[in-house]
Parts: sequence; C-alpha cells; structure tokens
Amino acid sequence: MFQADIVREDAPSFQGEGQLAIKVDSVSKSFTRWQRKEDASEKADRSGKKSAVEEESSSEKKALRKKGILGKVEFKSIFRQEKKTLTALDNVSFQVRRGEFVAYAGPNGAGKSTTMKLLSGMLQPTTGAISVLGMSPEKDRIALMKKLGVLFENRTELWWDHPVIQSFEWKKVVWDIPDAVYRRNLDMVTELLDIGEIRNTFARELSLGQRMRADLAMMLLHSPELILLDEPTLGLDVVAKRQMIEFLKRINREEGVTILVTSHDMDDLEEMAQRILMISGGKLVYDGSFDGLREITGNLTHFTVTTDGGQPELEGCKLLGGKNGVFEFEVDLSCCPMKGLLKRLSQADGIMDVEIWKAPIEQVIAQLYREWR
Ligand SMILES: Nc1ncnc2c1ncn2[C@@H]1O[C@H](COP(=O)(O)OP(=O)(O)OP(=O)(O)O)[C@@H](O)[C@H]1O
Ligand SMILES: [Mg+2]
Repeated sequence: MFQADIVREDAPSFQGEGQLAIKVDSVSKSFTRWQRKEDASEKADRSGKKSAVEEESSSEKKALRKKGILGKVEFKSIFRQEKKTLTALDNVSFQVRRGEFVAYAGPNGAGKSTTMKLLSGMLQPTTGAISVLGMSPEKDRIALMKKLGVLFENRTELWWDHPVIQSFEWKKVVWDIPDAVYRRNLDMVTELLDIGEIRNTFARELSLGQRMRADLAMMLLHSPELILLDEPTLGLDVVAKRQMIEFLKRINREEGVTILVTSHDMDDLEEMAQRILMISGGKLVYDGSFDGLREITGNLTHFTVTTDGGQPELEGCKLLGGKNGVFEFEVDLSCCPMKGLLKRLSQADGIMDVEIWKAPIEQVIAQLYREWR
C-alpha cells in the first residue's frame, strides 16, 4: 500500500547538524554472495515440472545416492558457483535527534542489523553518507567508539573465561575511563540492572539473560552518548525484560542518552520508544509515531460488551468471540467514528458494561507484514 513512498509523519525539522545524533543520507548497501549453481533437475524439482529425461536422470541420481555416490551432474555442481548481488539497504534516509529514543523494526532480513553495523562502522555503505554524532563511522571509528555503545544480540564483549568484573576493569584500563566516571557508572548499572550477584561469575557460566545484562552494563561504563541495541530483549524472561526496558527508559530520560533499538516485540518497542522507523526489503517504509502506524492499517479498536445474556447487533463492528454474556468486537474507527459507536452502544438493549481499548500494536504490525509479503 505504501511500499513505493515512505510515509513520514511529524517529519522532524532540524535546526542544525549539532542537534543530530544520526544522519543517514540515501544509503544503500549491497552484498555479493557466491552460491552453488542449481542444476537443471534441481530447478525442475523446485518448479514441480519434470520432463521424461529429467525424471530418468532424477531416478538415476536417487539410485546413486542410495549407494552413497554423487551423480556426475551433482559432482560438477559442487564446483559451479554463481555470483549474486543482494541489496540489503536501498536508498535509506533518516535522522535521529540527540536525546531521542527511536525504535527500528521490520520483518526478518529487512536490513535492521545491516543498518546497525553501518552506523557503528562495522560495514561501509555501498553508496550514500552516514554521520553519527557528527563523525563518519568509516573514517573516525576510534573516536566514535568513545561516544558510542553497541550491543548485538548474538555477540558478547565479555571475556569468556573470566569473572564479569574483570572484563569491566579491563575496559576501564583500555578505554582510559577516569576513576570517578567508572565508579559512578558501575554503581548505577549494578543497582539498576541488578548485576551485583553475577559480577564475580565467569561469563561462560551466565544464562542468556544474565549475559545480556552484563553486556549492557559493560557497554555503559564509558558513558556513551548514543547506544545502538540490536534485539536487546531477545530471550529475556518477563522480569529481566521489564528491568531492561525500565533501565533504558531511565537512561534516556535522566542521562539524555540517545537510543536506537531493534526488536521483534512491538509492544516492547512501543513502551520504550517515542518514534518508530520501519524497514521492509531494505527500504524505509515508515517514519513516525506508533499511533500513526495504527492509522495506516485502519484505526482498529477492540471493545468488549457485557450484556444480560443476548448478543448485541452492532452495525459496522466485527464480532471476534463471546461467551457468558461477554462479547468481543473489533471496529475500524476510521470508517466508524467513536461518536457513532457510542451512540449505537447506548441504544442497544441489555448492555450492562463496555470496555474499549486500542488494537495491540502486534496485531497492526502482523497485518502490515502480511501485506508486504
Ligand atoms: N555479510 C553478509 N553477506 C551477505 N548477505 C548478508 C550479510 N549480512 C546480511 N546479509 C543479507 O542482508 C539482508 C538483511 O539482513 P539483516 O541481518 O540486516 O536483516 P535483519 O533485518 O536484521 O533481520 P532479522 O530480523 O532476521 O535479524 C538479508 O537478506 C541477509 O541475508
Ligand atoms: Mg538482525
């Protein structure tokens, strides 16, 4: 529906470059991949259509496979590689102001991690320009690292065979963190991330959630101005997740740390961030508020009606389910405004109670992903 043109809601107007934490300008990133070339019979297998000759060669192949021998064609195809170019990011532009908390979402393979790697200088863009805290991640990587914190879901900076605190102390020395700053940050992360008990545990003995908290704590020891988090809540239990979210909100609010975070959990993102960037197939497709996103898919709202037994007839509302006199409906407020809905509810017979709430953002996103696919 809006694949071609990016929907930019409340497009931020920036006074000067100094206000910006991130500036991504028409960035594209392509990867070159070498992959095994499919032979004719594999292509036919995939398409489901087989000629008589292919049928024959395929049955010959099966017979050879039974004996553990590769057929002539299969053997050749091991050495037959073809080069493919994949565009992971396609002309992406966005800006993040200092002090903002921005969510970055999209389906698997959309280009989120690639963006994070470009912002932190781990990859270079194929075309376009990136500025992070006024620096080029490509050219000023070392200077930038002093002001930037990066956390990738599947990587750890902790020394595997040492207690957590030893990695923290190593970072203090190598990064030349002043004593007072280190002490203050260590006290803060120990209390807020509840890592007192795991500080002396060997990193290899930590559970996933404990390791994520220890990694986040270590990342914050040098007081970064901007942090990039790639799926920080992945695999965390309910309590650890809450703790992580509260902590991130707090450092954004109280310390003014700019945060860009990816996650597949839309409810988490909505709770944390003020703005959401959405990417699909390497293209930025939305930049705005969570409410604005809801409006794109229709302003879906759910409500439950408690009656004295019977099912109420409500025109324009979709019945989702009901039992024991409690019925759940869905309505699109962009087609059926709230005023009209309330009027209909007040006129219906036997209604004892009504509860109205917005459709969960997860549902809105699921609908969008289905459309994009
Ligand atoms: N180093 C690489 N070499 C080749 N292709 C890559 C490389 N890194 C990423 N890609 C491809 O780029 C595309 C975007 O990948 P990316 O990791 O950015 O997705 P993502 O949005 O983070 O997905 P997920 O939600 O699964 O983490 C994918 O098609 C992926 O296969
Ligand atoms: Mg990823």
